[in-house]
Amino acid sequence: MLTIALCKGKLIEPTLKLFAKAGYGAAQPVADSRRLLFPCPEIGMTFLIVRPTDVPTYVEHGAADVGVVGKDVLLEQDSDVYEPLDLGFGACRIAVAAFRGQVPRDRLSSKIRVATKYPKITERYFNQRGVPVEIIKLYGSIELAPIVGLADRIVDLVETGNTLKAHGLIEVECIARSTARLIVNRASLKLKHQAVAELLSKLRQACATDGPARKDGSLKPARSGGRNPKRMRT
Ligand code: PRP
Repeated sequence: MLTIALCKGKLIEPTLKLFAKAGYGAAQPVADSRRLLFPCPEIGMTFLIVRPTDVPTYVEHGAADVGVVGKDVLLEQDSDVYEPLDLGFGACRIAVAAFRGQVPRDRLSSKIRVATKYPKITERYFNQRGVPVEIIKLYGSIELAPIVGLADRIVDLVETGNTLKAHGLIEVECIARSTARLIVNRASLKLKHQAVAELLSKLRQACATDGPARKDGSLKPARSGGRNPKRMRT
């Protein structure tokens, strides 16, 4: 029996479609419910529904054997988990954005204020460029920050670009690309090797063939934007 941590939100639907396509279709509906725990003995799995930022924690500590989470979360948290598979869907980028008129205003002499859900990624990015920043940690609605004078810039996820556009912001630079990733607990890889290896092999096949796995309709796995992905042998 494998325990799988799934993200609440945008990734859950394409994840369940991909699992079904790989032969792990649950007999009961797993999304669209207040329930957080779904035992599915017919496919040898229990699904846990957790916040995206908590998926690596469940997997790292062994409360889940496997998880599905965006690369953006992995880059921010740098958790000690294996990351054997880019699932391809959920493609977006982590980008710096600003009001059009503010773009050329980088100065080395004064700190710029940057609002973000990704303080570590943001700090790393600006440090590498020698730009002093004050990071303002927010948990959502990041695009508001420059409008109300809370920040000069934002670092946030951009998918279609519509939210930036709707708030008069433009993308200044892409920091990293993100897609959904399968992550695996280190101990589970050894103790439940057969079940994990079989899951990986079937998901790889499902990713590589026709199907509804990717939100944008294409099937080619997106390139990883990550540093230091922890690979595993299967
Ligand atoms: C994400 C992200 C942007 C938006 C980008 O927000 O933080 O706000 O999606 O998508 P777009 O480029 O297609 O417009 P989410 O919906 O997760 O809400 P949140 O900001 O409250 O976390």
